[in-house]
Parts: sequence; C-alpha cells; structure tokens
Amino acid sequence: MTPTRPGRPVPTLTSPQTLRHARILGLGGYRPERVVTNEEICRHIDSSDEWIQQRSGIVTRRFARPDETVVDMAEAASRQAVDRAGIDPGQIGAVIMATVTHPYQTPAAAPELGHRLGIPDPAAFDISAACAGYCHGISLANDMVRAGTVDHVLVVGVEKLSDFTDKHDRGSAFIFGDGAGAAVVGVSETPGIGPTLWGSLGDKTDVITQREPWTELRPAMEDPSHHGEIAWPSFVMQGQTVFRWAVFSMAQVAIDTVAAAGITTDDLDAFVPHQANMRITDAMIKALKLPAHVPVARDIAETGNTSAASIPLAMSRMLDEREAPHGGLALQIGFGAGLVYAAQVVVMP
Ligand SMILES: CC(C)(COP(=O)(O)OP(=O)(O)OC[C@H]1O[C@@H](n2cnc3c(N)ncnc32)[C@H](O)[C@@H]1OP(=O)(O)O)[C@@H](O)C(=O)NCCC(=O)NCCS
Repeated sequence: MTPTRPGRPVPTLTSPQTLRHARILGLGGYRPERVVTNEEICRHIDSSDEWIQQRSGIVTRRFARPDETVVDMAEAASRQAVDRAGIDPGQIGAVIMATVTHPYQTPAAAPELGHRLGIPDPAAFDISAACAGYCHGISLANDMVRAGTVDHVLVVGVEKLSDFTDKHDRGSAFIFGDGAGAAVVGVSETPGIGPTLWGSLGDKTDVITQREPWTELRPAMEDPSHHGEIAWPSFVMQGQTVFRWAVFSMAQVAIDTVAAAGITTDDLDAFVPHQANMRITDAMIKALKLPAHVPVARDIAETGNTSAASIPLAMSRMLDEREAPHGGLALQIGFGAGLVYAAQVVVMP
C-alpha cells in the first residue's frame, strides 16, 4: 500500500535501483606474542596437557599483555586487512567490531578503531554475537555494500578472553585465547558472499554465559565486608550441551548454507568452522560428509578458541600457508553464546 498522510502527498525517497555484488577484498590477523602452554594452564586446574589436547585439540593459545587492549589487537589485524585489500583507509565507510570482551559497556570500540586507522567520520558500531559475531558482521557488511549504503566495510572479530576467563574453572580455563581477525568487504563484479543462514535460541541463554551480570557486582563492590574481594564476571559454559548442539544442529546449518549458496560440498576449497574445539570440528566434518579434498581450518591447535576472531584468523592462516587458494570458495560458520549462529559461503580474497 502506498503511504499517505493527511493534506500533503508523501514524496518518494531516494532508494538504490539495483543491488550490487560484494566480496571480501582482504583479510588480516593478529596473534599476541605470548604463547601459553597447557602446562601453564594446569598450574591452576587439576588437568594435564594430554587431557586438554585429547578433549579439545588445543596445544597452545596466545594471551595479550595486560596493557594490550581489544582495540590494539583490532588495529593490527585491520591494518593488514586494509593493506591486502589494496585500498586507502579513507575509502572505508563503516567499521563493525564483533566482540564480547571490550571492557567498556559504552562507548563502543569501533569508533576508536576507525579514528586510529585514520578513517574520516565512519559509521562505527560494535555487535555482540559471541563466537558468531564475525559471520554476523560479514552478513551486515554484505547487505550494506550491496544496497549501496557504503562502498567498503571493515569487519573485525576481536577478543581478549584472558580477561574474562576464570583460570581456576576446569570447564573453560583451557579453551580460550586472545586475538583479532579483520576483513574488508567491498564492491565486486560477481557475487562473493552467499546467503547467510543465521538464528538464535533465546531459551538457551544459560549454556554459555557471563557468570554474573554487572549489576550484581555493584553491591559487592560497595559492601565493605568484601574487603576488595570481588567476584569477576568470567564466562562459563555447559561443555556437553555446547558440544551436542554444535555437532547436531550446527552441522545441519552448514549443510543448508552450502545448498543455499547453490553449490555442493564438492565445490568447496576450504571449511572454516569457528575454532571452538577440534573434536567439534571433526564431528562436523563427518556429519557434513565433507569430501577429503577440502582442507579444514585447524588453527585452534596453536591459537585456542578466540571466539569472534577465530574464523578470520583461521582463514588468513590457511591462505598464508597456501593450504587454501585465493579466490576459492570457503564455508564459514560461527556459533556460540546466545545461543546464536551464522554461516555463509564466501569467495576467499
Ligand atoms: C569442555 C569439554 C572438553 C569437557 O569434556 P567432557 O567430556 O564434557 O567433560 P565432563 O565435564 O563430562 O567430565 C568428564 C570427565 O573429565 C573430567 N574433567 C573435566 N574437566 C577436566 C579438565 N579440565 N581436566 C581433566 N579432567 C577433566 C571430569 O572430572 C570427568 O571425570 P570422571 O569421568 O572421572 O568423572 C567438552 O564438554 C567440550 O569440548 N565441550 C565443548 C566446549 C566448547 O567447544 N566450547 C566452545 C564454545 S564456543
């Protein structure tokens, strides 16, 4: 129905006539310097290098310096992505940062990142979609470029999970690491980002969660009887529930995402699942019946689970190590706290 208002006709607003195509033009990654071994993790939990490797595939992870922020890490990854995209930072119209570990409730981290990169006046905002944050960002960037809102979007997945991990929690202390991955999405002559399949299960908020809301910490902070001993809001998870959900439901989402892109798994040049846990990846490969010729991201072994950063970090590693071809097709799928998920097939830069 045409909108009307009393007395005066409603003018037609400017709107793009045709949709464009978008693709990832460049990827970048940053891993903090400090390598943390399983032995170091086991100083605080009753566990062993063997158990951690066998149950998660993690051999080492990286922890940022105490003074190193998510914006510092995002900046390093972004500079590489922008450089590889072959564009000037001034061409970027929007900055999207996917993170759940920026320690300020407000302001968002993205405006500061845009400023540091010398991007004049970009639209800049953060999104909170946990380990699926990067794939949510890619979907938004694709739509923004296709609709003509902007020509280039910088999408960053970055986490400093070491700040939010309880090093005494046996169920999560060995999983998480720190890092950043970034992508520049821009205009393309052919489709470079397939349809996104995404969703959420809002009745499963307790499966992966921050242990206490910030509001519960405030009375503790103001209570003198705590003598400065304040519980820190670490992330906790129900490991087995995450495992079952990822393997059964996410494998089906991955299968549907490939079909939605109009291809088969045989056409893939890489499978880049969120680096949650090596056993989850192995189970997904089986459920997908992934052909043996498709290389699979296994960055988790050396980088741990870096939540929103894990997919761009893993994909850039595969490209750098020539494990996957530039211009090839990759299936990427992120899933995590919410519970939320997002997946798409992309043309690798
Ligand atoms: C976390 C995870 C490795 C735990 O493995 P699990 O087999 O489910 O572990 P459970 O809690 O059932 O415990 C099984 C046994 O291991 C022991 N165990 C648990 N944590 C341990 C640890 N860190 N080190 C050594 N032993 C441990 C338990 O005590 C138990 O021993 P028992 O059989 O003698 O009683 C597993 O659930 C998992 O991989 N989940 C997915 C997590 C994930 O990927 N999260 C990312 C979300 S994005």
